[in-house]
Amino acid sequence: MTTDWAELLMTDHQTTEKVLAAVSNALGAKDGPSTRMIATFLEYMEGYIDSCHNKKEEDHLFPMIESRGVPRHGGPLAVMLAEHTQSRELAARLAPLCKSYAQGDRSSLAELKDTFEQYAELLKNHYWKENDILYPMARRVMSAQDAAKVVEGILATEAALGPNTRAKYYEMAKTIEFLGGVEDLSAGLPKNVLAAMLNTLPIELSFVDENDIVRYFSHENHAKLFPRTRGVVGMAVQNCHPHKSVHLVNSILADFKAGKRDVAEFWIDLGGKKVHIRYWPVRDTDGKYLGCLETVQDVTAIQALQGQRRLLDDE
Ligand SMILES: [Fe+2]
Ligand SMILES: [Fe+2]
Repeated sequence: MTTDWAELLMTDHQTTEKVLAAVSNALGAKDGPSTRMIATFLEYMEGYIDSCHNKKEEDHLFPMIESRGVPRHGGPLAVMLAEHTQSRELAARLAPLCKSYAQGDRSSLAELKDTFEQYAELLKNHYWKENDILYPMARRVMSAQDAAKVVEGILATEAALGPNTRAKYYEMAKTIEFLGGVEDLSAGLPKNVLAAMLNTLPIELSFVDENDIVRYFSHENHAKLFPRTRGVVGMAVQNCHPHKSVHLVNSILADFKAGKRDVAEFWIDLGGKKVHIRYWPVRDTDGKYLGCLETVQDVTAIQALQGQRRLLDDE
């Protein structure tokens, strides 16, 4: 488990954002959300968003950075606290609307939708500000001991709400997502854009499916470190490797399928370049193995990087 306070809090943000997207989706659909979805959302909103997530910030992170010189009145900390108050007010208006909808009363759907959108908009903006402004600022003013203390506080707040609080609410979030049918963001991209993005990566990709059959490679019409042609598609990956290395390929794939390894990496010298080759198990959100992704990258220039080049000099 991570012991980084920012990662813990940002995972909360990400989880809640997915919940908000799912509910927004369902509220926009012709038939509206199911009563079960709204009942589950209400439980998540009341039990986690304010009582757990905001509490972790207000009881541990904010006082810590205040003690390190970030003022509570004026500046980003004051803005964050004011937004917590606003979100509490909106949640208080939203809760009875959710409750009556969950009990089968659809007459307030329009008001529910409107209030929910205000709430979701506020939270999305708030999380963005914390992720991009407040947390980096907090990192700069806190020592390693301070950071460890904040993590301790976060875990204590969760424990005070009952056993496995975070896991319990993350499960609830997953249920809401499932009920709202939230797809991966890439589902919103046209296929040709997705393909062009893959071909723009400075990394050559190839993919074999869960049965070890080659299904895809990128940069088809570009110069490649490892030239390959369409003929490989449909072939078993074992037939694409020299006979003497096949047992190694098989053992890596077996480990991936068994969930024993998360990456296998190699690096070679090729025509004056340092080439980094990695194999990654590709899994769906439930952890089911979908296949193996090979990434091939010329890292010569990356190895030679020194110092910094930043967008702004005064960061
Ligand atoms: Fe916050
Ligand atoms: Fe937050």
